[in-house]
Amino acid sequence: MPFPFDIKATDGRARTGVLKTARGDIRTPAFMPVGTAATVKAMTVDQVKQTGADILLGNTYHLMLRPGPERMERLGGLHKFMHWDKPILTDSGGFQVMSLSGISKLTEEAVTFSSHIDGSKHVLTPERSIQIQADRLGSDIVMQLDECVAWPAEEKRARQGMELSARWAVRSKNAFGTRDTQALFGIQQGSTYENLRKESSERLQEIGFDGYALGGLAVGEGHEAMCEVLDFAPEFLPKDRPRYLMGVGKPIDLVEAVYRGVDMFDCVLPTRAGRHGQAWTWDGPVNIKNARFAEDESALDPMVPCPASQDYSRAYLHHLIRADEILGKILLSWHNIAFFQALTAAMRDAIEKGEFEQFRKDFRARHIKT
Ligand code: GUN
Repeated sequence: MPFPFDIKATDGRARTGVLKTARGDIRTPAFMPVGTAATVKAMTVDQVKQTGADILLGNTYHLMLRPGPERMERLGGLHKFMHWDKPILTDSGGFQVMSLSGISKLTEEAVTFSSHIDGSKHVLTPERSIQIQADRLGSDIVMQLDECVAWPAEEKRARQGMELSARWAVRSKNAFGTRDTQALFGIQQGSTYENLRKESSERLQEIGFDGYALGGLAVGEGHEAMCEVLDFAPEFLPKDRPRYLMGVGKPIDLVEAVYRGVDMFDCVLPTRAGRHGQAWTWDGPVNIKNARFAEDESALDPMVPCPASQDYSRAYLHHLIRADEILGKILLSWHNIAFFQALTAAMRDAIEKGEFEQFRKDFRARHIKT
């Protein structure tokens, strides 16, 4: 295993630990800000670092279209390009093809798609995805190519996607080989079906990965249905390796997933929704555009250790977002990323103290307004 995963404490199913990589430690539970196009939108890497983020996520799909994998390699890889020296996890591309590109053709061999930028045609195989991630971008944590089946799915369709993902897991692993300073994660699929999630996990473990992701969730099923899947799905994965829930989520999703044994997350929500005036605080979500903030001189959340959370009034942020000023997007993105980092830090602390159950109860009581 290239990266040791030291679990420091468990509390029920929740765990806290450290994933040790060649570029630094990742404290878990961890939230990875999304840096799709070699930037966490509207933030400098120094700001991102200040929030306490140990790792960023990058996207194969976007970077292979622009600036292109070979150019990225000539420029020294993604870390150097964006001036971020800590770990980067890259997603493999299949999921973004489905959600962003002109519709694609999916075969046993590859996924073929047209670029959302200029319509040009591209082919992504498991082998090509691994080569781009590991060799061109220089990613620290590489994801296998998979198929995320849309929700809802009949069991037969969900099985098809799970089985294709399992065969692509074998091809991804063969292409990756064994490496000392880079890790490869497999992706569990199977929609909402317990038997499929179990079979997927068994097939992945036979191949052997450095970590295991839960894919195919947060695709429209809703919080309750996702929690029902998380009641069983993480338990099928090895206890001694990190478990990563892809594309999740809201603060309440993170708390409920950690409660069920998940260690890592990524989501565009704090930055994307932040740019539109949505903020999260310990006291719940805030839509800063709301008229009630027009003369509110309080800070967004003084308990979040970030200038964007403490130094500006809600009235000012309300004005900036309403006036569509760039600074509004910057400050709300910055605050949200800082809040998500504060949330994972608080969860790590509660698990270490054996107080996660109480933390979860208090969080729900304070954060969810009925
Ligand atoms: N991001 C969110 N969900 C998924 C998924 O199922 N697969 C991949 N590769 N990325 C995702």
